[in-house]
Amino acid sequence: MRTFSIPPLGAHEVHVWSCNLPAEAEPVAALASLLSPDEQSRAARFRFDVHRRRFIAARGTARLLLGAYVMRDGASLRFEYEPLGKPRLSGGDVAFNVSHCDDRMLLAVRRGGDIGVDVERIRPIADAESIAGRYFTEEEAERIRSAAEPLRSHFFLRSWTRHEARGKFAGRGVVPVRELHTEVQVLDLATPGEHVAAVALDCGSFNAVFDATVQPPHYREGLTCHGFSLS
Ligand SMILES: CC(C)(COP(=O)(O)OP(=O)(O)OC[C@H]1O[C@@H](n2cnc3c(N)ncnc32)[C@H](O)[C@@H]1OP(=O)(O)O)[C@@H](O)C(=O)NCCC(=O)NCCS
Repeated sequence: MRTFSIPPLGAHEVHVWSCNLPAEAEPVAALASLLSPDEQSRAARFRFDVHRRRFIAARGTARLLLGAYVMRDGASLRFEYEPLGKPRLSGGDVAFNVSHCDDRMLLAVRRGGDIGVDVERIRPIADAESIAGRYFTEEEAERIRSAAEPLRSHFFLRSWTRHEARGKFAGRGVVPVRELHTEVQVLDLATPGEHVAAVALDCGSFNAVFDATVQPPHYREGLTCHGFSLS
């Protein structure tokens, strides 16, 4: 059985794992063996190898980590999908959400409640003002309008990750802020160098309580998952 140990997840904790998505054939082939038939067919439909490999690596890694929470082989996990595509783990009380950007994936996990996460690479955003006007609060849009580059794009991406995390919490994806539930709490995450990220949830205030790096057995060469917890 391909399981490994991770810190326990308490009732009022959120774990966030930040993982590189390996592109080399060997770790990707090992991770592919964890995917379900429908995930394998989705993988086969990607036109470009790089996208296929990242999809396989993301799904395989999510299965490995989620399997560790429920103490099952990642390959045996079943996902169900909400109407707009949000995946859920069948059975049990572990909720999760995934976001990926290039070769980086974030997986946020909690028990007994819902969660949304988003990660974006920091980059110049050409139409930041007009998107902000459509999706964000007037206050955020003004902050973005009045900043000069590169701060403008940075502010934009911060707001974007917060909104997308809230939308993903609700299983809706990206929608204008006025359409979202206001009681959801959003936290900016400290992420490696060139990314910004946020997590959305419906309770408490959170502080980091663990900081761990795991390299799942069989994937040691290609995959590193760095995790931290909010509690
Ligand atoms: C959900 C959504 C924001 C994802 O956009 P993205 O740029 O791929 O963002 P991320 O990398 O952050 O997230 C992707 C992951 O979120 C999860 N996800 C998918 N749909 C989701 C939803 N409605 N709510 C929350 N999470 C969702 C999946 O785990 C997905 O990973 P996968 O591609 O391996 O299946 C975007 O697809 C969206 O707005 N969907 C809303 C529904 C919609 O418009 N559907 C039409 C698509 S044809």
